[in-house]
Amino acid sequence: MAGEGRPSTVFSAGQKHVDGRDEHGHDDLYESFRCSRATEIRKPDSRGSEPGHDKIKTMTRLRTRLTELLGIEHPIIQGGMSWAAGPELALAVSQAGALGVIGAGPMYPDALRAAIRFVKERTNRPYAVNVPLYRNQADLILDIIFEEEVPILMAAQGGPQKYIERFKAGGRKCLHVVAAPSHAEKAAAAGVDGLIVVGSEAGGHPPPNEVGTLVLARRVVAAVPHLPVVASGGIADGAGIAAVLALGCDGAQLGTRFLMTQEAGVHAAYKERLLQAEVDDTALVGRGLGVIRMLKNSFAERYAAAEMAAAPKEEREKIFKSSSLKLAALEGNIDEGKVEVGQGIGLIDDLPPAGELVRRLVEECDTALARLGRLRG
Ligand SMILES: Cc1cc2nc3c(=O)[nH]c(=O)nc-3n(C[C@H](O)[C@H](O)[C@H](O)COP(=O)(O)O)c2cc1C
Repeated sequence: MAGEGRPSTVFSAGQKHVDGRDEHGHDDLYESFRCSRATEIRKPDSRGSEPGHDKIKTMTRLRTRLTELLGIEHPIIQGGMSWAAGPELALAVSQAGALGVIGAGPMYPDALRAAIRFVKERTNRPYAVNVPLYRNQADLILDIIFEEEVPILMAAQGGPQKYIERFKAGGRKCLHVVAAPSHAEKAAAAGVDGLIVVGSEAGGHPPPNEVGTLVLARRVVAAVPHLPVVASGGIADGAGIAAVLALGCDGAQLGTRFLMTQEAGVHAAYKERLLQAEVDDTALVGRGLGVIRMLKNSFAERYAAAEMAAAPKEEREKIFKSSSLKLAALEGNIDEGKVEVGQGIGLIDDLPPAGELVRRLVEECDTALARLGRLRG
């Protein structure tokens, strides 16, 4: 495990391996994660000093219900991504005026607490923690997020009942990730402050209904007109952000684009391989089993062959569970790991620092909106 290219985040190993874990490498692995490298992370700027902020001040600001709700400068959210979205990434994004998100998915509780402190000690800007509610110890994770006074909770893969009352009463903002109009309506009725709607282009867990972002986001905007809606899936540049604003969304969440930054905590081999990927190099793997979108590789081909042969569910499940995101993201096994990534990877050909990326996205969005304005003649 010692090796070059290992992720430079709080995640660390001593891991258990394949058996018994799900596609994110979630198993009883919470026993094996440690926040051992938090102190090795490069020294950030002192609290209050926000690199690049002067530049941002001169840029066009887009005000939407999302920027108002969260107190951020730009209607851009960095997707919470297991293994990739550690505190370095969240900090850089928040400091640049977008919403940085710590992905609590595979984090050991003490690692999460350290990650939250790392961010909040270094910026006064809003940031969020993303929690897949199905994960082990989800209640403990929610307790930590609450105790550490994280201003924004972003919950996924479960209902808001688990947290909504306590977090709202505590004055926190609650965003909920949804993959269908019916889920959006339920979450809205439960009292969430805003919704992230994820379409089929997305890396990680796209919706099982396989509906694309253009259609799903528009449908959710119509279903819950009183709530800010953030579109996610296939948005990899500022033109994409402008497109979803045109749909009536209040912002965009980008996962794959922020995965391809210097601060993202996945193995260097993961990013290097993805620099070569085209728009059609991803596949949906594991339909009916918690489908993921990932890079086509040896593992994905093996799974596709079983699906083509109409193999029984148990057999497909065995193959599906034989790999994990951890294998790719932490250990750098790009052929056999689940290299989760969205179709937008075909629009990406660099690995900028995340703060620089936010500034670029804002400029690109501005250019796209200006171009649209000129169409009016
Ligand atoms: C490597 C990877 C890991 C992810 N892990 C999570 C996660 O733990 N929780 C979550 O809500 N979404 C997760 N996602 C989804 C992202 O938050 C985001 O919704 C998605 O990447 C957006 O689509 P895009 O990749 O096309 O930008 C993950 C995505 C990727 C690529």
